[in-house]
Amino acid sequence: MVNANGGLNQQRVAICNAVAVASLLNATLVLPRFLYSNVWKDPSQFGDIYQEECFVKTLEDDIEIVKELPPALRFLNIEAIGSQITDADLDKEAKPVDYIRTVLPLLLKNGVVHFLGFGNRLGFDPLPFHLQVKEETYFTEVL
Ligand SMILES: *[C@@H]1O[C@H](CO)[C@@H](O)[C@H](O)[C@H]1NC(C)=O
Repeated sequence: MVNANGGLNQQRVAICNAVAVASLLNATLVLPRFLYSNVWKDPSQFGDIYQEECFVKTLEDDIEIVKELPPALRFLNIEAIGSQITDADLDKEAKPVDYIRTVLPLLLKNGVVHFLGFGNRLGFDPLPFHLQVKEETYFTEVL
């Protein structure tokens, strides 16, 4: 799960990165959500701006995307089980190996991780080509 922060452009980048991270970790992505920003004061959610069905369909060969958490995970207190990840847990400039070391064990243990205030820039940094392609698929071909 990802709650992207910042303005629309930052959120767009965060979504690209979330796709790359989901792919890296072989994780299912829950449709991204946006954190409300007191700077931008825009209450829009992902579905207000992007075509959800198209997003899911375009990326279906790369990652699985679901609308919400499956029932078994929905009522977990994600913060209490240690699966909430903020900038304090993972550097904005974290590399793929950092996700494998820090995030993957939590994902395997709890079945879910929640990036809160996700604004990481994985997609900008040198990254294996197969991961770059995935995150660009949606935004370059569709939008
Ligand atoms: C993800 O799946 C691929 C292909 O099955 C595998 O090579 C890779 O090690 C997996 N990565 C993780 C983080 O489990």
